[in-house]
Formats: sequence, C-alpha cells, structure tokens
Amino acid sequence: MAAPRIPLIVDVDTGIDDSLALLYLLASPEAELIGITCTAGNVNARQVAINNLAWLELCNAPEVEVALGAEVPIITALMTTEETHGPQGIGYAELPAPTRRLSARHAIEVWIDNARRRPSEITGLITGPLTNLALAVKLEPELPRLLKRIVVMGGAFNHPGNTTPTTEWNIAVDPDAAKIVFDAFSELPDDRRPVICALDVTERIELHPHHVAELARVAGSTPDEVLHPDDEPGTRSTASNRVIRHLSDAVRFYMEFHRRYDQGYLAHLHDPFAAAVALDPGLATLRPATVDVELAGTLTRGQTVADWRGMWGRRPNADIVVDTDPDEFFRRTIERVGALARSLN
Ligand code: BDR
Ligand code: CA
Repeated sequence: MAAPRIPLIVDVDTGIDDSLALLYLLASPEAELIGITCTAGNVNARQVAINNLAWLELCNAPEVEVALGAEVPIITALMTTEETHGPQGIGYAELPAPTRRLSARHAIEVWIDNARRRPSEITGLITGPLTNLALAVKLEPELPRLLKRIVVMGGAFNHPGNTTPTTEWNIAVDPDAAKIVFDAFSELPDDRRPVICALDVTERIELHPHHVAELARVAGSTPDEVLHPDDEPGTRSTASNRVIRHLSDAVRFYMEFHRRYDQGYLAHLHDPFAAAVALDPGLATLRPATVDVELAGTLTRGQTVADWRGMWGRRPNADIVVDTDPDEFFRRTIERVGALARSLN
C-alpha cells in the first residue's frame, strides 16, 4: 500500500531558493501539493506568481492552484531584493512564459477554504514573508487549529540577521505579519507547534558547485555541469536537460550574490530545507521556545526573540530547528530533484 500523502499549502515569494523548494516538493511522491499562494518579498507578488506557474509548467507538474496574495506588507512599505534573486527573482534563468493561469481566488481564500474542508490534515509551508497567513488568521481565527501544522522559514535567534544586524529577510519584510502569526499559533498542543527554520540552521545548508554537478549527473544531463568561481559572472548553462539548465542559471546568480557578501562561492538553501522538514520533521532536531517579534526597536525591528527558559512565563509557541544533517538533506535533494529532471529529459 502506498504511504499516505502529506497535503500541503505552500506560501512563497519565489525567489531562487523558493524555486528549488518547489522542485523538491514536485519531486517528492509523498507531497500532495494542493495550493501555492504568492506573496510579495524577494520580488513583487505578480512576478512570484509567474515564476511559480513557469516552474510548474517546465516540470509538467499536475494541475495545482496558484493564487495571488498580498502585494504589500500589512504596515511596512514593500521592499524587494532583486540584488539577491535577480531581476525576475530566478537569477539568470529565463523560463518560458507559462500558459497556465492564476486562480481567480485570493491566496487568503485558498488557505481558509482548504483548511476548513480538510480540518487537521494540511501542513502549511511558508518560505516568504508571513503576510498572507497573517491576513488569513485575521479572517479565520480558527485557522491555527484547522491546520495540522505550519513550517516557517524565517527568523534568526542565536545568529546574526541577513537583512539588518538582527533580522532575517522574511521577517524584515513584514514584521507585523510575523507577530500576528506567532501570537495566533500560540496555545496549540505540543505536536502542532509551528516549526521554525531560522538562519541559525539554514545558513548551514550550503549548496556548492559539486552538488550541482552531482544533480546534473543524476539527471543524465550533458555535458558535466561545472560552476566555477573563476567563470565570467553570468555564464549561462548549456546543460542538455532543461530543468538542470534553468536551475543552474538560477543558482549561479545566487552563488555570485553570496560571494559578494564574503560567504564564498556557494548558496544557502533556506527554503528547500524548510520544504524537506515539512515533509519529514525527523530531518531536524527541534527545541521548544516561546517566540516573539520585536516591533518597536529602532535598530532591531523584526528581530525574532526566543525565550528558551520560560522567563516570560508563557508556554512555548514554536519548535525551533537547532540541528540537522546537511549531507542527508543534499542526498535527498540530489536524488529527488535529479530523478524529476531525468524524467523530463
Ligand atoms: C529567506 O529570504 C529570502 O531571500 C529567501 O528566499 C529565504 O526565504 C532567507 O532569509
Ligand atoms: Ca523565500
């Protein structure tokens, strides 16, 4: 008998690493992708939607509802980061324009309607700012109890931020939304607490050129896929396999970005890691804490603060990922995404 599938709603700001998270899910037979909701973040929300539709089409994915969500944060003015993810959010990749259409529904409706129809079944994975989920919770306060669990890529605890000295990007874009979500998802049973994949661990998920080469080999792509630090910036892939070609073009941009900020010729796969954890929390070591978001700090707005020791006297409202095995994550990614790409050769 086939293993039960995991129904998922995925909220994204696609994004290079969001792209790879989508591919990971499409490549995972246990994932039942029931909705992709788009939020503004890395790039504007309409571009996010186009990117999602384009990846789905490129991968011949089964039909899945893709819905546009919030185009701006709840209070803060929108910031986007084309510097990190490229002019369209997918690095140097130029995906064919999708023929698939956006849903007529708003992202908030997709969250609420699915959660009501399948109470306690759906896992929510959020790899962008938490704007859509915060708005959905305002409309349907039962949402935290209607969902099985959420997995969030966001925050930085005992670790510097990547947007300000204290603050991680997804929370920095919409700190008010993050606060609404962490508050609303308090008081849940222990096994339903949100799982938080913060920079403390996601910056250990380093994609190196040899990983891309292995992925291409598993996909049966030719010639060898070589991303070399000495390559002219913007060198384009000639891979025979179309998924590998576009992925490599996307990832090269991300590696060049990381190198510009002295992190080496590599890329942090924040969002794909969160996707892997959403399918298998066993990949992560979790530690409960009470999490809150600084909204008033003049230097620290958007900082995520974890009370590990119960000093606030409030029950833990999150399970923070404190450790993982990055090699195991890459083994799964290469095997799965490689097989998906090979099937599309
Ligand atoms: C997060 O910020 C975005 O740029 C990435 O897609 C990821 O979700 C990492 O801080
Ligand atoms: Ca993201």
